[in-house]
Parts: sequence; structure tokens; C-alpha cells
Amino acid sequence: MPALDANSLRRAYTDFFVDRGHTHVPSSPLVLTHPTAPMFVNAGMNQFVEYLNGELPPPYKRATTVQKCVRLSGKHNDIAELGKTRRHLSFFEMLGNWSFGDYYKEEAIEMAWELCTEVAGFDGDRLWVTVHETDDEAEEIWRDKIGVPAGRIQRLGKENFWEMGDTGPCGPSSEIHFDAGPEWGEPGGPAAGSGDRYVEFWNLVFMDRYRNPDGSFLPLPSKNVDTGGGLERWLMLLEGVPTVYDTDAVRPLVATAERISSKRYRAGDERVDTALRVIGDHARTMTFIVNDGIAPSNEGRGYVLRGVIRRAVRLAYQLGVERPIGSELVMATVEHMGEAYPELKTNADVIADVVDREEARFRTTLRTGSQLLEEELEKGRVSGATAFALHDTFGFPVEITEEIAEERGAPLDRAGFDKLMAEQKQRSRDAGKTVAIAASGIEGYRQLVDEFGTTEFTGYTEYESAAKVVAILPGEDEGKVEVFLDRTPFYAEGGGQVGDTGTITSSTGTLRVLDTTAAVPGLHRHLAVVEEGSVAAGQEVTASIDAHRRDAIRRNHTGTHLLHWALREVLGPHVKQQGSLVGPDYLRFDFSHHSAVTPEQLAEVERLANERILDNEPVRAYETAMAQAKEAGAIMFFGDKYGEVVRVVEAGHKSMELCGGTHVNALGMIGPIKVTQETSIGANLRRIFALTGEGTLDWIAERESLLTTTAALAKAAKPEEVPGAVERLLQRQKGLEDEVKSLRAQLASGEGKELAASAVDGVVVARRDGLAGEQLKDLAVSVRNEPGIRAVMLAGTPDGERVALAAAVAKDSGLVAGELVVEAAKITGGGGNAKAPDVAVAGGKDVSKIDDALAAVRATLGR
Ligand code: SER
Repeated sequence: MPALDANSLRRAYTDFFVDRGHTHVPSSPLVLTHPTAPMFVNAGMNQFVEYLNGELPPPYKRATTVQKCVRLSGKHNDIAELGKTRRHLSFFEMLGNWSFGDYYKEEAIEMAWELCTEVAGFDGDRLWVTVHETDDEAEEIWRDKIGVPAGRIQRLGKENFWEMGDTGPCGPSSEIHFDAGPEWGEPGGPAAGSGDRYVEFWNLVFMDRYRNPDGSFLPLPSKNVDTGGGLERWLMLLEGVPTVYDTDAVRPLVATAERISSKRYRAGDERVDTALRVIGDHARTMTFIVNDGIAPSNEGRGYVLRGVIRRAVRLAYQLGVERPIGSELVMATVEHMGEAYPELKTNADVIADVVDREEARFRTTLRTGSQLLEEELEKGRVSGATAFALHDTFGFPVEITEEIAEERGAPLDRAGFDKLMAEQKQRSRDAGKTVAIAASGIEGYRQLVDEFGTTEFTGYTEYESAAKVVAILPGEDEGKVEVFLDRTPFYAEGGGQVGDTGTITSSTGTLRVLDTTAAVPGLHRHLAVVEEGSVAAGQEVTASIDAHRRDAIRRNHTGTHLLHWALREVLGPHVKQQGSLVGPDYLRFDFSHHSAVTPEQLAEVERLANERILDNEPVRAYETAMAQAKEAGAIMFFGDKYGEVVRVVEAGHKSMELCGGTHVNALGMIGPIKVTQETSIGANLRRIFALTGEGTLDWIAERESLLTTTAALAKAAKPEEVPGAVERLLQRQKGLEDEVKSLRAQLASGEGKELAASAVDGVVVARRDGLAGEQLKDLAVSVRNEPGIRAVMLAGTPDGERVALAAAVAKDSGLVAGELVVEAAKITGGGGNAKAPDVAVAGGKDVSKIDDALAAVRATLGR
């Protein structure tokens, strides 16, 4: 029988139990909501807790699953074993089957044995079983019904009692182990030998009781079976490979780690191998955790995820990888596991983005943090203060620092670290600035929405609103807080429009809001600093936006709509918005169009928009059904997503768009529009910048001042006289240039006479530095014009860097000026037109060759 691979094993297991009356239930997400649920699902039974406890009647008596599991917290945390043993992973898939008060020990054991030996292909002679020390019944079944020799059945204590957590269903278990052979350790069976030799791969739990938090047990309403086998362990044994990392389920991701780090797996360096394994393992773990909606944060699940991403990044860094690796790890996982878990494909970009951002955050301090840690490690111990600095300033989760310290045999002062952490928490409590919610990150925001609803936006009509503080959370940047109100006039950045700024004031203090964004859709997050006193959750506050800034923003926003309309009028209806930025100082608008917009077209666009403004029609905004808006011809931006109810903004009677932004009440409020720039930003993509209101007025004032300065420089009494004055200046300049030219000619002819006097047989070959090509040519011509001169060749460097060459020959000389000059130019690394008859110029590069060049021409001319 050929060994099963991951896909066929999942299928074979599921089919086997479905054939025996089990309902195939999909894997649950990694995060469950039952009060006793572990942080991350750690076993297939988690999603069935209500049925096992008898809280809900099970919809089926028998079930089978392939369940995503993460073991990085609580009772089942395998982080210390990761990459070091042959069989531990932080993310794995658990094969399982259940009986909810239906079959019990006998049938469970019989089916398990049949599947192992007849379907999966395990050699029954190499299997060992363990039972709980009290479980005579299970032992008898194995020995008498199945026929496992008594010598391969062993009894164990707590190892054969399975509990989900400190609270929850549990029971005695019976485990099946595979003897991998003497090369993996001492004999003696699972009770005596190592877990690497006697590999436990299937756990059958006879779940009959409930553990209370105080450790006492209650009987469960029914006797259940809960089995679980790690898919990757089965594969390791069936494929006969040394570790779970070498199976077809995980090896491709270790290969990704190899590619990223340019290090080879199993090339003799155990530390490299361990790092590559952990990176491969973490690729799967981070991908699946983010896929189930968790974002990195400083608490709870988000913190575990943060640790996973940062550990992978740090391990890669240790292997010499300085570039970002997150999205590569995610994409490799998606590619490898997307068939079994299609939702990974749908979410791939989002997952990669979340991981990338976390990585980027960590990378800013990774190098300095690593250095600090290295210095400390050299001292042989890691102090609490350093561990705290690494955590607080450099973003090293203390668990990671601890792992590194341990690996290097240096003790870490965890108590010292914990003390500093506690002090920091106390400080922020004392400041009275924050209120704790159980979770952080996206989850925390969702929790806020669940508890308090979304934020009521009052800012379409109010600049100042009375509100209540729902929560204040620490911001990502030190010293900043995130403030959530029940209602707010602060617009949250969106649809191209920037977020509002302003103040939030309570009876005890003032916060200055630096920006407003949506934490999750509908939840306005005010990013603020404490300006005075303190503000706390639950307080009544006055939330005021910076009205002057907002007015400028709304002028630009309505202005954007008018320009969009005018561009379509002038260029055609193919013009579509591709993006925009609406801030207080200017607006930027990107649109599709095949060629540059001409100055005339731009002027026309500007004119049309300003015409609308002068018409001063009202701006109306209202909500309506999507279908209706479409029918009325509202413009919907490419890429935007709209719900059923949409907000329509009519900027006068010509422009109608779907938009959630804030706008002026009547077009006249926009003030003058000025398009200041038009550029290309890609194939068929154009971008314009424009100003409105005060922006345009400032622009005009600035232009005016430029003109005034110019007038003063041009000695014009008034700006109107500038053109006349500049024209006069230009004329004068022309007169002066002519004069300079004729003076130069005179000078040249003087020098020409001198040079001509040095002629031998009517030939002058000379060096002249400091003259530009044109001047050198004039000089050559004036030499040639002297009586008796046949040929002139001049060369020199005008500036010490380049070479200028000029030749002139008399008409009846039989010589070609171009040939002379090109011959010389070539020697100095340049070239010119060899055909030029009487006068020729050329350039060269190598100044050191000028004299050689002249010598060559001299030889040619027989001198
Ligand atoms: N819950 C048990 C385990 O995780 C059997 O599924 O091992």
C-alpha cells in the first residue's frame, strides 16, 4: 500500500467514519466563544463542548472532523518543544471522531484498530497501547477483543487522563503508539521509553466527567468518546520520515524558509535546522490565526499571534535575512494549504497585509534590539531591566527573549521583568487615561461595537457635540490614546477625505485630537494626546472639531465633485475617478484618461467648475436605495463598495455622486477653484491638483507677490508695466550680446593674426585652453582668414574636464576640415562630422590626450 499523503489521509479518515454512521463536520474556526473555550482551539472536541457537557442536545450521535488546532497557550502549550522534537507543531490538524452517548470503549477501540491496520497501513506488530491505570475495561478490550499482546499494553497515570483545560469535560484515555525502532531510543514501551521512539499518534478519550475550576469532578450526563490524532504525526510515521517537518504537510514550508534564508535544511547545522522548522511551522500558524480574524496586539490572542510573527522574523534575522518575509510565508502557506482550506485563498491578501504590517512594526527596532540583547547575553545573564526595555522599546515579547536566553544558557530575571511591567501598568492606571477592555486590536474594537454600538456621526450638521466617552485605549504610539465616543462630529478618514482634528473636553481635562479614523467600519477612533488634566471613560465631554480646517476640507470635497463633472464634460464620459485626496490645503484627483490634458482643456475645466460655483446652487445630500441612485445616474466610483442604502450628494443640478463625505451647503461657498498641476501617474492615469477657497486666494496672493517682486526687479512702477519693462530688458540684453560678439571677434582676429604668424607652410596646429567650442571655432576661422593660411587645427579644454576641437581650411587647400577634426577627436575619445568641408568642430573626453591629438594632425598635415 503506498503511503498516504495529507490529502488522501484526510479523505480516508473522514470516509472511514462517515461509512460508519458519523456526520462529517467541518473544522471550527480557531477561536470559539464558549466560556470554557481555550484561547485557541486545541483539540477537535472544543467545538462539541456543549454536546459533551449536555448544555445542548447534539444534532448527531456520531461525528468526525479534521480540525485546525493551535497549541501555544494554556494547558496545551508546545512552544518549548517546537522544532526540537520530531513530533511537535504549534499549528496542526487533528483527525477525530466522536460518540455523544452512543458507542463507547469497545466500538471506539475496534474502529481505531481497523483504521490503523487496514486503512492507514500501520504494522500492527509495531503498535503499543496505553490505558489509564484505573481502566481495566479498556485493557481487556485491547488484549482480549483486539489481540494486542499483554506485553505491549501499559498502564499510565495522568498521561492517560485528558482534560481540555482547568475547567471542562475530561476523562481517562487510551493512546496508540508506534514503535519507530531502536535508533530512536531505549526499549521498554511508551511507559519507559522516549516519545520520539514510541510515538503517540492517536488518543481515545472516554469522556465521562466534568472538571470544576476547584479540581473536583462531576459526572457528565452521557458517556462519550472523543478521539484525536495529529495528521502530521500520522504522516510522519506512514511516510517513514524523521520528523513532522519532513512530511508532505509541512516540508514545503520549511522549503520556503530555506529559500528565504538561502540556508539548506539538513546540511549538518542543528541550529539552522531548528530555525527553519520553526519558521515553516510559524508560517502556517500565523496564516491560520489571522485568517480567523485575529490581529496582532498586546494582549490575549493578539499577543500570541504577535509572538508568532516576531519569532519567525527574528529567527530569519538570525539566519541573516534582513528583508521582509511575512507575506512570502503567508503566500506559501496559502498556496500549499488553499486546496484543503479554500478560505485562505479568499483572504490571502488581507492576511499578508496584517502580517506585513506587524513585521514592519517590529523591523524598525529589530536590529538595535538584537544588538542590545547580544551585549547582555555576553554578560551571561539577562536582567529584568533589559528584558523590559526589549519588550517596551524594541517590541521583543518577553517569551521570545526568554527562549533566546535559555538557548544561550543565560538566566533571565523574570521576576525583575514582571515587577517593571506591573509598575508600568500601575503608572498608566494612575494617569487615569485608559480604560481596559478585555481584548485589543480588531477584536477589542468589535467588542466595543458589540457593547456600545457604532458611533453616531453628528458632523454633517454640527461642529461641536455633547458626547460620552465610551472607552479610552492606549494608542500604538507612546503618549497617544485612542478615544471612542458614543457620538461625534469628527469625520473619520474615508472616501479620500482626511479625518478631522480638534479637542475633546471634560470637566477634568482636555484631549487634543490629532486625527480621526475608523477603527472598524462605523467606529470613530479619535487619535489624541492629553493636553491638560485627564479624561476618563464614562465622562460627559464636548467634542469640537477644528471648524476652520473642516470648512477648507469640505470646500475641497465639493470642489472635487465639480472638477470630476467638468473633466467628464470636457474630456468625455470615459473619465472615471481612480482615487482622491481631500485635505484642508488642496485636493488631488486621479482619473482615467489616455493622454495629457492640454492647457486649453484644463482652462476649460476650471472655467466650467467656476461657472457652477458662481451659479451658487444648493448642495443636497440624502440617503436612498442603491437601485434608485443608480437609476438617477449617480456616479459610483470604481472599486467602492456600497450597501443597500447609499448617500447621494448633489452638487448643484449637474453633479450627482455617491459619497459619505462632508460638503458645503451651496456651491458659492467653495470660492474660486484653481487647477495647479496636471501629471501622468501611470498608463492611462492622470492626476490633477487643485485649490479652492482660501487655498486659491493664497495662491493668487503668492502669484501677486511674485509679480510685485518681478516689477521691482524690472524697475516697473506697476505690475501692469512688467511685460513692457521685461521686453525692454530683453532688447537691451540682445544689444549687449551683439556688442560682446563683435568685441570677441575683434579679440579673436587679434589673436588670429598672432597665431597666423606662427604658421609653417600655411598650417597652424595649436593648443588653446579656456575657450568653449564656439569660441575656438571663431578663433580657427579668423586664423584661416589671414593671408597664406591653408589649414588651422585648434584644440584645448574649456574647463579642465572636456575637450574642444575646431578646424578650418581654405577653400582651395584640397583639405576637409571635418577629417582633421575627427581624427583628433577620436584620439581624445570623441567624434564629430567628418564631412564638414571648411569649418568643423568636435568634442572629446580625455583631456590628457589633447597634445597627442594635435601631434597626429600635425603629422597628417606633413609638419
Ligand atoms: N481531546 C483529545 C486530544 O486532544 C482527543 O481528541 O488528545
